[in-house]
Amino acid sequence: MTYAAITGWGKCMPSAVLSNADLSTFIDTNDEWITSRTGMKERRISHVSASEMAVVAAKRALACAGLDAKDVDLIVYGSCSNDEQVPNSASGVQAAIGATKAASMDVNTACTSFLYSLSIATAMIRTGVVKNAIVIGVEWISPFMDWDNRNVAVLFGDGCAAVVVQATEKQEGVLGEQLGCIADARQTLRVRGMGTLYTNRNVTSGVTEWDFDGQEIFKRAVQGMVQASQAVMQKCGVTPDDIDLVVPHQANMRIIDAVVSRSGIPMEKVMLTVERYGNMSAATVPVALAEALEEGRVKPGALVLMPAFGAGLTVCAHLVRWGDRVTPLAESDAALPPVTKSALQMVQDIRATKTAGREQSTKGLHEPVFIEQR
Ligand code: UT7
Repeated sequence: MTYAAITGWGKCMPSAVLSNADLSTFIDTNDEWITSRTGMKERRISHVSASEMAVVAAKRALACAGLDAKDVDLIVYGSCSNDEQVPNSASGVQAAIGATKAASMDVNTACTSFLYSLSIATAMIRTGVVKNAIVIGVEWISPFMDWDNRNVAVLFGDGCAAVVVQATEKQEGVLGEQLGCIADARQTLRVRGMGTLYTNRNVTSGVTEWDFDGQEIFKRAVQGMVQASQAVMQKCGVTPDDIDLVVPHQANMRIIDAVVSRSGIPMEKVMLTVERYGNMSAATVPVALAEALEEGRVKPGALVLMPAFGAGLTVCAHLVRWGDRVTPLAESDAALPPVTKSALQMVQDIRATKTAGREQSTKGLHEPVFIEQR
């Protein structure tokens, strides 16, 4: 039987750091509130586009796997912050890394996009459609963040990581997954101002506002991730004691705490990045996975549980059996260009652009009829 092993990994984190103290210079918030309610201390702000981060991460993952870009059959780009609507971002990565024979697709399920993309690549490998795939989780949220809304501005950051997935006869890679969507809660997280629904509604491109019901998302996310984790463990015939490491989506330390304790897994088995990076949406799980490998927390043959949720509300949990190799075969020298501005300055620039855009827009913007209202 064919399986789909994860054989390469690479992250690409922009270097500019936005601290809780930086946020409190322009919104009514403070380090104490953010730390105690979310576990976050800082997040990164990217000076380059999402696809530029993706290219660096993909090159690093390829080097790690010892795979030539020309042998890649598939690129799946998981993100909700694409450079453009058309053409897709995966094709841009294909061109930049020279993966000339790779089928290239974008997948958007918000914060779960990397894991949904991993399911797609795994299924296509296991059914023999392709042999070698790159799966990317990337977000450049800062340009469409609602920076003057303290409910959301403190929670998110930018980042990227990628993995290489390859056909193998060994029982490795995704052993099982549970995918789902709690669509009756889709209105709890919505970015207004992006998408064709805003045509002719006086929205100046780039002016985005967020609908966000944090408490409702919190509740649904915990329920959804616990149920998905239990379902995938049951499907694969494993118990919480069999799990060696949990690499969860990192939207809030309290959410992670609730999910693992209700799943019967101790916190010592959980990989955490939320304090340093905040919620990077689709990039969160692969960055945490790459750092767990860098820190030697993934042992040969380890069983890794990866639960996540995102806007939609999409939920999932994946069980991955790691292979023998937990170190890179080689390292790429791919890197981002140097950053010339501070994270705070970049955010202030975005805020200024949005203010100018808002002044050009007329009142009553952002009021399309959404599908669930028809
Ligand atoms: O990956 C998907 C996206 N992530 C999520 O959806 C996260 C899910 N939700 C959460 O993580 C939590 O609900 C939040 C962190 C967003 C909020 O935590 P909470 O404990 O549910 O706080 P709350 O919404 O009940 O707000 C408590 C208070 C409110 O003040 P009042 O009404 O009690 O006076 C808020 O206005 O905290 C206030 N508040 C803030 N204060 C300082 C909200 N945001 C802030 C802030 N700084 N940034």
